[in-house]
Amino acid sequence: MTAPIPLLRVVVLVSGRGSNLMAIAARADAGELPVRIEAVVSDRADAGALEWARGRGITTSVLSPRNFPDRGAYGRALGDIVASHAPQLVLLAGFMRILSDEFVLRFSGRMLNIHPSLLPRYAGLHTHRRALEAGDREHGASVHFVTPELDGGPVVLQARVEILPGDDENSLAARVLRQEHVIYPRCVGWFAAGRLAFRDGAAWLDGKRLDAPVMCGCETKEGE
Ligand code: GAR
Repeated sequence: MTAPIPLLRVVVLVSGRGSNLMAIAARADAGELPVRIEAVVSDRADAGALEWARGRGITTSVLSPRNFPDRGAYGRALGDIVASHAPQLVLLAGFMRILSDEFVLRFSGRMLNIHPSLLPRYAGLHTHRRALEAGDREHGASVHFVTPELDGGPVVLQARVEILPGDDENSLAARVLRQEHVIYPRCVGWFAAGRLAFRDGAAWLDGKRLDAPVMCGCETKEGE
């Protein structure tokens, strides 16, 4: 009899509906991702993801930045909540707040983010609108390690989405989101399997330094 694979302890930070959180949880439930979501933490009490998590018996916490004098103090308190769950991996999944450098460094090498653009294009907000306004032919999503530079850490995996005539922000965002739900669980799986690491300021996959992101052929569901 083989020993069961220990599940990776994951804490997920959210600000909104949590569809990326749900996509990861669904893969874990299906036995395709060896992770356990220890806690869901939000800066907003009204984040839909919290209700969903509570309904599944996942521990939730809300920490509003309003009660803190500055980003540093907020980051320390938030970091203490996250650290109390002893995560091996911290996931930003639609967490819409700039984190202090101290927070980022506290979880350095074990924090990933999903961003709705082909980084380094369109760091920050309103990525779909900006891609449309620029007349881009393609757009997409990126998973990257989090470093103190906003949306600037090494990118691991990207999915491209073609911009179609007649696209508006909503239609484009919906197609990008479908790709997010593929690439984020995939990166989490790589990390959980010990295939993905952050070293010397770079992402490494299967022992090789990634000088460019892996591009996802997301229309076909590859075996992992
Ligand atoms: C996702 O599109 C994610 O990429 C984006 O917020 C959305 C959250 O959706 N994140 C950022 O823009 C971070 N800068 P979700 O709550 O349904 O996962």
